[in-house]
Amino acid sequence: NSRGLILGIESSCDETAAAVVRAGSDALSNVVASQMALHANYGGVVPELASREHLRNVVPVVREAMARARVTFDDLDAVAVTEGPGLAGALLVGITYAKALSFGVGKPLIGVNHLEGHIHAVLMEARQRAEAPMELPLLALVVSGGHTHLYLARQSGESWSYRNVGRTVDDAAGEAYDKVAKLLGLGYPGGPWIDALAVRGNPRAVPFQFGQIKPRAHREGISFPNKKAPPKGEGPTFDFSFSGIKTAVLRYVETHHMRESIEARRVALAADPELRPKSDAMAALCDARTLDLIASFQYAVVGNLLRQTFAAAEVFGARGVVVSGGVAANSELRRRFKAEADKRGLPVAFPSLSLSTDNAAMIAAAAWPKFVAGDFAGEELGATPQLRL
Ligand code: KG4
Ligand code: ZN
Repeated sequence: NSRGLILGIESSCDETAAAVVRAGSDALSNVVASQMALHANYGGVVPELASREHLRNVVPVVREAMARARVTFDDLDAVAVTEGPGLAGALLVGITYAKALSFGVGKPLIGVNHLEGHIHAVLMEARQRAEAPMELPLLALVVSGGHTHLYLARQSGESWSYRNVGRTVDDAAGEAYDKVAKLLGLGYPGGPWIDALAVRGNPRAVPFQFGQIKPRAHREGISFPNKKAPPKGEGPTFDFSFSGIKTAVLRYVETHHMRESIEARRVALAADPELRPKSDAMAALCDARTLDLIASFQYAVVGNLLRQTFAAAEVFGARGVVVSGGVAANSELRRRFKAEADKRGLPVAFPSLSLSTDNAAMIAAAAWPKFVAGDFAGEELGATPQLRL
């Protein structure tokens, strides 16, 4: 006599999160404790600090999620937790807690891939809005600070299966945003700053060339400097590369002698932590050339994401496109993806802003099909930092 209540727990990076979701679609609570402010002081996530904060936060965050949902541990049908990919020490905090809880209250444990969670965040909300259902096969772009992956989601028995049909060969798109923002003396994380400032510049001012990465089936000898080699599969793959544009921005900064103004901005920002990306005061710290550079960078990155995603959607006959992960919050990305999808007559869905960044509702939602299929984890469940989807 199950109500399908699943407690989700997420601790893969810098948010400690817990949520209670009913039957994969109805979030009764969704609590996130962000460590953003802590890591902002270091310009990036510091793994040691992240683990320590997760340890501090996991119990109160779960307690809060249970209280807001007005349920007890007894009411739960399962406990779901992110098993990877992510930071090993950070993942272990959530996993250890979830295992102990599942054992202690006698509820099954479900291990969830973080990337599958990001995809389900979108589908969960689409169901809530009672939109025309997204039909499989779906093309999913997961684009965040750690990932830039394209998946083809297909039905396979009761559950879903995913095929990775594209990935970044170097930096993730969000990583490029963060690195370029840092280079330009903007705050961390860089995405929201660049997003807000880009609308004030001319996107055609600097014509960044994006070396189109050819579908993998037609290439030989590609090397993956930072990542493992891609899995072998049928059909072409649509990869990304973002380290080139980062270097191009750096070169532009050098040739146009922008160092001094960048340093001035860095100092002004450090002196006034209240400065917000969208504020006029922030824009006033950027000259026209800087704003044009920011707009052009974003135009190029979004264009690249758009081209590869829709090329893959066409080749694989996808019936819809789903975009998720932190970069899915980007306003230009949303606008241009919607326009392209409309042109092609394809539905496209994004998560709401609150569900586009890391959260646990998406973990509990992704666990639902696994619960139905009886796909439970044992006590051997461990952290898998490089977990693939
Ligand atoms: O999914 P997420 O919260 O964490 C992981 O990386 O898994 O994504 C964070 C990333 C950061 O790189 C951040 O700069 C980027 O998402 N981001 C954005 C925007 N908001 C966040 N990038 C572009 N435009 C935005 N509005
Ligand atoms: Zn994420």
